[in-house]
Amino acid sequence: MISTTASVKVAKHPLVQHLLTRLRDYQTPSSEFRDKARELGRYLIYEAMSELNTHPVGVETPVGPAKGIALSDYVILAPILRAGLVMAEAAQEIFPSSRVYHIGLKRDEKTLQAISYYAKLPEALPAESRVFVLDPMLATGGSAVAAISLFDQHKVRYIHLVSLVAAPEGLKKVHDQFPHVHITTAAIDEQLNEHGYIVPGLGDAGDRIFGT
Ligand code: PRP
Ligand code: URA
Repeated sequence: MISTTASVKVAKHPLVQHLLTRLRDYQTPSSEFRDKARELGRYLIYEAMSELNTHPVGVETPVGPAKGIALSDYVILAPILRAGLVMAEAAQEIFPSSRVYHIGLKRDEKTLQAISYYAKLPEALPAESRVFVLDPMLATGGSAVAAISLFDQHKVRYIHLVSLVAAPEGLKKVHDQFPHVHITTAAIDEQLNEHGYIVPGLGDAGDRIFGT
């Protein structure tokens, strides 16, 4: 079933919160940060995919017939470059037949506007596609809204945003424009600072993942 009301899920599992704490620590080195971001992404995507559609199938075990299920959905992953790449790697391991459409967006440091530099979607997408937009930091929400808009223009009805950390400002922006979009995150933090960074957040996700 596709819900038409906003849903925000905060994953409280101790393993999720442990990983998030390691990411928040400014002393966590880049190599560990990258690994932990991928692992946290995996858990959040696993959670976000809990409502995938299935259909019943029969299988034969070595001992006899058993009832099972098969996955029905056409799954699309849409990582926002750069930092979303590690989440896409984790998501592909969970769902190997997913299609990946990379979305290149750069936040202008002064205006905080999301500037598009890459997006290559096919002319049409199956209406029943389930799109998972992977944006590690939901800050002002400008990047998430720009990515979601691309799929909304393609008439995709089910869109799920997965973020490691979200700010209230970004959640509001997404839900004001796209009330039907589902969101899964590990934390809703306090606010944005004057530079558009999430407080307390974890700093610049892209820079910490890639050591730049
Ligand atoms: C970061 C982050 C998000 C975006 C969030 O990207 O990865 O995509 O900012 O900010 P917003 O909600 O205010 O739009 P950044 O521009 O730092 O690029 P990078 O991932 O290439 O480092
Ligand atoms: N982008 C980041 O990487 N971190 C923030 O806190 C906000 C935007």
